[in-house]
Amino acid sequence: MNYPINKPFLPNFAAYQAQLESIYQRNWLTNNGPCVQALEQQLTDYLGVEYLLLVSNGTVALQLAYAALGIQGAVLTTPFSFAATASTLCWEKLTPQFIDIDASTYNLDVSLITAEQAAKASAILGVHVFGNPCDVAAIDEFAKQNQLKVIYDAAHAFASPVGDKSALCFGDAATLSLHATKLFHSIEGGAIIFKDKATYLKAKQMVNFGFDAEQFPEYVGINAKMSEMHAAMGLCVLNEFEQVLTHRQTLVQEYQRLLSGVVQLQQWHADGMNNGAYMPVVLPSEMELQRVSAALLEQGIQTRRYFYPSLSQVPAYGQRGATPIANDISARIVCLPLYTDLTLDGVREICDALTTILAEGQR
Ligand SMILES: Cc1ncc(COP(=O)(O)O)c(C=O)c1O
Repeated sequence: MNYPINKPFLPNFAAYQAQLESIYQRNWLTNNGPCVQALEQQLTDYLGVEYLLLVSNGTVALQLAYAALGIQGAVLTTPFSFAATASTLCWEKLTPQFIDIDASTYNLDVSLITAEQAAKASAILGVHVFGNPCDVAAIDEFAKQNQLKVIYDAAHAFASPVGDKSALCFGDAATLSLHATKLFHSIEGGAIIFKDKATYLKAKQMVNFGFDAEQFPEYVGINAKMSEMHAAMGLCVLNEFEQVLTHRQTLVQEYQRLLSGVVQLQQWHADGMNNGAYMPVVLPSEMELQRVSAALLEQGIQTRRYFYPSLSQVPAYGQRGATPIANDISARIVCLPLYTDLTLDGVREICDALTTILAEGQR
């Protein structure tokens, strides 16, 4: 067997080549070119959002969101995420205050924020973990009561609805990663979706050194521009995205059917729908996780400890906040192979191998 943990989706080569030929003819490679403009428009329409800005990756998307919204001081966030969630806060000289997660959804549990923590913070940074929307209604309500801004690291939440809206419609800003391993990608890339037009316009300048229309640096900016070649890849992937999404959702449903009652599965938002971005499973203990992962790898099946370690246990991120649930889940969670090339038979083979290895451990 040969099942890597992930394989980037490659759209039709001739379609990408045609895009590249047009870029060569125009000789307009970056600085808000026609491909970037077209992708921004198409994503805005596809996702049903309003103020969407493309940037060079999902990490800088987070940094720009904090800067454009003027976030300062402490930020209440989850320790159960990828390094970039916390590292971007530290990079912007903000202080991550870690709040524990819900043991079944793996998302930040807003009911655990104390009055004292809320009083000292300027924002909540939630993560829609593995694409599963946070309890956006509860976070919104809490933020209003405590005058906090809300940012969602929605790196995984492309094509993830809450009711009849995209999860990206919630918060003062939501950020996407369009990295090659993501459900929808532009090789490297990211996007920020703002609630408010003025902040969006400010961020649009910040992406390009803070320059205004007269090339005067009105704000402290950065270079976070997406190139035409990256946007062209995004346009080609978007063209085939419906098939990608449907296929990956079918794969996840098959995984869930075969593994329900065998391992702990993530509980999804009641008004949402799994977007087929990741296939995490929680095992009974860290020792069992190590045994099972090693045995799967021996059979050619890769797994990934994602997310590990819990970010509240990383000295470089300040270790503020006791988060026993996140620490426990981080130690026991692993992602199984999931990519567009994977077949239903592949999922069955992986589940067979996993079930057999788990049963062997019980003997
Ligand atoms: C939750 C989360 N946030 C942020 C990022 C950073 O995105 P990028 O790799 O595009 O910089 C990632 C990337 O995997 C992620 O998983």
